[in-house]
Amino acid sequence: MSRIAKESLPAKQVCENRKGKILEKLEDEVHKVNKLRGKLDHRKESKAFEEEEEEEGDKVEKANESWLLTTEYYKNIDTKAFRQYELACDRVKQFYEEQHAKQTVAYNIQARIDFKTKSRDKMSVWQGLEKLNKLLDDSDPDTELSQIDHALQTAEAIRRDGQPRWFQLVGLIHDLGKLLYFFDSKGQWDVVGDTFPVGCKFSKRIIFPESFRKNPDFLNPLYNTKYGIYSKNCGLDKVMLSWGHDEYMYHVAKRSSILPVEALAMIRYHSFYPWHQEYAYGYLMDEHDKEMLKAVKAFNKYDLYSKIDQQYDIEELKPYYMELIDEFFPGKIIEF
Ligand SMILES: [Fe+2]
Ligand SMILES: [Fe+2]
Repeated sequence: MSRIAKESLPAKQVCENRKGKILEKLEDEVHKVNKLRGKLDHRKESKAFEEEEEEEGDKVEKANESWLLTTEYYKNIDTKAFRQYELACDRVKQFYEEQHAKQTVAYNIQARIDFKTKSRDKMSVWQGLEKLNKLLDDSDPDTELSQIDHALQTAEAIRRDGQPRWFQLVGLIHDLGKLLYFFDSKGQWDVVGDTFPVGCKFSKRIIFPESFRKNPDFLNPLYNTKYGIYSKNCGLDKVMLSWGHDEYMYHVAKRSSILPVEALAMIRYHSFYPWHQEYAYGYLMDEHDKEMLKAVKAFNKYDLYSKIDQQYDIEELKPYYMELIDEFFPGKIIEF
């Protein structure tokens, strides 16, 4: 957006743009941290956690490694390019301090009630992407990529690998739930960042686990045991994950699309790094979740690494993706 165009915007719009940009910058940093964490050997780094948690039998069986970085396009990535952990760390840590203190069971239940009972917006999926793009696109010099750029890069990387059409569509819409930020979110902490279960003991494999001490649920005996309000191997579908763009978009897609369960799991769990990267919470998984873990891990590399790819011509790709959207969202106009 040009400077002149920006100046002519109403104050509220400029303010929303700025908020959106801060949200995006923060999420970029969260991603950088996750990329680096993926490269570290946590079995050495957090030995104490592992010993404690292994006794509890929460280790998830590792998914077949072939789901990891094995494609032609990603096997030669210069991982050093992503090593900006030190720069990202302070802001990310502050973000998680707030997120970990405020994501409670009570908040989660309220957010789910609000989702089901309040009407926010009705539009097509493509209009949703454009709305998100507009809100998050301003002339900030730190701008790297717009939301549509990231959506298309992720989708195109999946398409280039010859993955199924539903998988490509997941690439396009996986972050569309960030629209939540402009509806009824309380801040950044209930839109972005890694997700984790509420209602049971917070795993020490969640990033910055010490910050959960400020969460009211931390000392609540109903919520601070291994299983909390859940039961052994109850299945993640029964578990309340912290509220954010993933959980929100999962429910929107489940309600309005004919996407397969793998696609819905990719959307729902793509920020559940404690699970798909750190292998925590195995004791809450059922057999179905083991299959879903493979799908989520398969998706994750495209989300993390496609930002280094070329920027695509949106207008050129639009007809292809409009058709793809119509194939899986037959109702065309979606209740957000
Ligand atoms: Fe995301
Ligand atoms: Fe993403």
